[in-house]
Amino acid sequence: MDNKHIAIGLLGLGTVGTGIMHIITEHQHKLCKKTGLNEISVKKALVRDLEKANGHGFQSVDYTTDGYEVVTDEDIHVVIEVMGGITLAKELIEKALDQGKHVVTANKDLMALHGEDLLQRAKRNQVELMYEASVAGGIPILRALNDGLSSDQITKIVGIVNGTTNYMLTKMSKEDLSYDEALKEAQEKGFAESDPTSDVGGLDAARKMVILARLGFSTSVELDDVYVRGMTEVTSDDIDYGKKLGYTLKLIGLASKEENGAEVSVEPVFVPDEHPLATVNDEFNAVYVYGDAVGETMFYGPGAGSLPTATAVVSDVVSVIRHLRLGVSANALEDSSTTSLEISDERDVSAKFFVRLHAKDVAGAFESITAVFSKNNVSFEKLIQSPFEQGALAEVVIVTHETTRGDFDQTLEDLKLLDVVTSIKSRYRVEGGTADVLEEQNLALV
Ligand SMILES: NC(=O)c1ccc[n+]([C@@H]2O[C@H](COP(=O)([O-])OP(=O)(O)OC[C@H]3O[C@@H](n4cnc5c(N)ncnc54)[C@H](OP(=O)(O)O)[C@@H]3O)[C@@H](O)[C@H]2O)c1
Repeated sequence: MDNKHIAIGLLGLGTVGTGIMHIITEHQHKLCKKTGLNEISVKKALVRDLEKANGHGFQSVDYTTDGYEVVTDEDIHVVIEVMGGITLAKELIEKALDQGKHVVTANKDLMALHGEDLLQRAKRNQVELMYEASVAGGIPILRALNDGLSSDQITKIVGIVNGTTNYMLTKMSKEDLSYDEALKEAQEKGFAESDPTSDVGGLDAARKMVILARLGFSTSVELDDVYVRGMTEVTSDDIDYGKKLGYTLKLIGLASKEENGAEVSVEPVFVPDEHPLATVNDEFNAVYVYGDAVGETMFYGPGAGSLPTATAVVSDVVSVIRHLRLGVSANALEDSSTTSLEISDERDVSAKFFVRLHAKDVAGAFESITAVFSKNNVSFEKLIQSPFEQGALAEVVIVTHETTRGDFDQTLEDLKLLDVVTSIKSRYRVEGGTADVLEEQNLALV
């Protein structure tokens, strides 16, 4: 880098890559003002199809199909990785770091799996590795945890960090769409991929929670440490019962630090309608952070998309350039070693739970069900019982008081063995208290 110009290498020119080209071109003046440079340009970009790349019309970029040409170019000081995937992206980032280049990535899959190693490698090479865009796209949440809240002790991070599932749950809740209809609409609008498995199965959110928990608690967290349950079993009936109880169903990523360890989970959770996360709709993301000193803060915005994600990437580039010009490395200042915080056994996690079951509408059925709850030390906070199928069956919905996941799961296992219980239809975790809306709606409250 000379005093006036910095050359960037770009790996990948897809959705985010083209957004980056637009931001760098269109915000050039602002970017130069923020960094004190005269020019910030992409010198070389890795693409798969040279003809298609030339068709974009971006000026003065050399396109190559060989990523190593980008990461070994001596004029390039900062490499941006937005090609996605694991193996090649990792190899190219490692090569770039070893060549003394700073790296900015949006790759959550890679950072969740190999983030700790790559960060250590960056530190050894005295360069920076930044990854703001890997969590919640356009929301500067990593910067908030790293800088804005750096003087506080973070105790809990609760997030809606997957736009696809939030879009689907919003449509199911507000427009009464079924799961399949909501997924189809999300795919048509480009909010869900043709293979939505990692979104609806919770894996995408789990990867982001690994990154958030590591950074928030300065601890080592692996993907296997996360309790993951996706939204594939969610039905409109569950959402409707939630509404009656004053809850909204959200796919929630939760990382919380207790005295004896930490919990990291992703699962559909009923949150009270008045909770700020309940109002986060459509494809938007939000992350709620609890700090000992600051209390509660919420960060809200677009979790994906070409320009929002590109904004996060280019803002990381601005930070890198500033550090370069000041001759400091944020990495070098920080002790990047992580404390080891034990991950709690998922059975010991304490929460309230919701269960919906079908039972025979016969004398003594309710007593048998309550006996199973008592045996497992699980007590009810709310219960709704309504007859259906000409009175042959009853639908029972129970919200428990705080209990452990282990005791709750054991209760469900024991209920399945009862003659009077014909099926357990659904179960969810519940955050916060139940609103007193049942009486107002004249529901059968036992
Ligand atoms: N899209 C978002 O809103 C968003 C938000 C946050 C984070 N991210 C992350 O950002 C990264 C990029 O996402 P994206 O949506 O921009 O993906 P994308 O549209 O698929 O773009 C990736 C680009 O990289 C190219 N590429 C991949 N492997 C290549 C190779 N071996 N050689 C040459 N070119 C190669 C692809 O070319 P082909 O198309 O020819 O395969 C494609 O043009 C991913 O890690 C993603 O998780 C994306």
